[in-house]
Amino acid sequence: MKLIQKKGYKKVKIRKKQKYDCNYYLNIKISLINLILILFCIIILIITFYIIIKRRNKNILINKISNKQNKTENNNVLENSNENEEKIYLDQFETYIYNNIKEQLDKHDCCQMWDNQREFLNGVVRKFRPKKIVEIGVYKGGGTSIILNAIQDIENAHLYSIDLSDDHNIGKCVRNLFPNFLNKWTLFTGDITAKFMEQIGNNIDMVMIDSAHFEPGEILDFIMVLPFLKEEAIVGIHDIANQITKSPKRNEYAPYIIFNIIRGKTYLPSGEKRLRHDIGAKKLEINQMKYIHDYFRALGGQWQYFPKEKHIQLMIEYFKKYYDNDCLIMFNETVEFNRHFVKKNPRGQIYGYNSD
Ligand SMILES: C[S@@+](CC[C@H](N)C(=O)[O-])C[C@H]1O[C@@H](n2cnc3c(N)ncnc32)[C@H](O)[C@@H]1O
Repeated sequence: MKLIQKKGYKKVKIRKKQKYDCNYYLNIKISLINLILILFCIIILIITFYIIIKRRNKNILINKISNKQNKTENNNVLENSNENEEKIYLDQFETYIYNNIKEQLDKHDCCQMWDNQREFLNGVVRKFRPKKIVEIGVYKGGGTSIILNAIQDIENAHLYSIDLSDDHNIGKCVRNLFPNFLNKWTLFTGDITAKFMEQIGNNIDMVMIDSAHFEPGEILDFIMVLPFLKEEAIVGIHDIANQITKSPKRNEYAPYIIFNIIRGKTYLPSGEKRLRHDIGAKKLEINQMKYIHDYFRALGGQWQYFPKEKHIQLMIEYFKKYYDNDCLIMFNETVEFNRHFVKKNPRGQIYGYNSD
C-alpha cells in the first residue's frame, strides 16, 4: 500500500512537476511573445520616430531652400528691376490741361487715340516742357491739338507736323477748332520725314511718331528724325501694342519694334496690363549714334510694304549724309531683299500712298 501510495505520490509529484514544467514553459513562451511584441512595438516606435524626424528635417531643408530661393528671387527682383523704366505715370500728370479741349476733340471725332493715351501725350509734354517738337503722322490733327494745347504756356515752343498724305483733311481739327493754336504750328504734307528735316532743323526736344504702323514704317521715321534730335530728347510712339491688341491680320509691328529697341528711359501710362500699353515715350540715352547699327539692323525684317522708289532714293541720299557706310550697306541690303519679297508676298497696308 505504502509502495503504491508512494508510487502514487510520486506519480502525483511527477504529474505536478510535469504540470509545473508546463506552466513554466508556457510562461516562458508568453513572456517571449510579450518580449517580441514589446520589441516589435519598440521597433515600430523607433521607425515612426525616425520617419517623423526625417520628414521634419526634410521640411526644414525644403523651407531653407525655398527661403533661399525666395531670397535670391527677391534679390533678382531688385537686381532686375529695370532702372531704365521711370515709374511716373504721365497719363496722370496735369490732365486738367488736356481736359480743356477734350470735349471739342470728342465732339468732332478728331483723335485716333484713346482717352488715357491722349492724357499720356499731354502728360509727356507737360512734364518735359519741350520747345521744339516734331510730330510724324497727323491725320485730322487730334494728337496735334493735344500737343499744341499743352505748349500754350511754354515760351517759344513750336510744333512741326509731318504727314505723307496731302489730303485736305490732314490737320483740319486744329484749323477748325483751335485757330488760336496756329501761331505755334507748322504743317508739312505730301512727303516723307527726310524731305522736311533740314527745313525744320536740329535741336529738337521731342518727336511724336504715329504714322504707317506696318514695317518699315516707324523704324524708318525714327532713323530719319534721329540726326536732328537733341541729346536726351523725348521720343513718343503711338500704337506700340498693336501686335497684341489688334487682329492677327493687322500685324502692325513697326511701332512695337522701334519702341522696344530705342535706348533710353521708358515712360508708360498707368494700368496693370503692361504689354497692352499702346503709347509710350523714351528719354534718349546720350550719344545715340553708338546704337545706330542696331536701329538699321531692325530694318532687316520682311517689310509689309515697299516704299515708293522716289522715297527710297531720297532716303539713300539722306542716309549718305547723316550715317556711316555700314548703315548704308545695311539699308541697301534690306531694300534689295524687300523689293522682291514684298512683290512676292503682298500684305495688307493701310496707307497706300506709302508705296507705288
Ligand atoms: C494713325 S494716323 C495719325 C493719327 C493722329 N496721330 C491722331 O492722334 O489722331 C496716321 C497718319 O500717318 C500718316 N502717314 C502714314 N505713313 C506715313 C509716313 N510714312 N510718313 C508720314 N506720315 C505718314 C497718315 O497719312 C495718317 O494721317
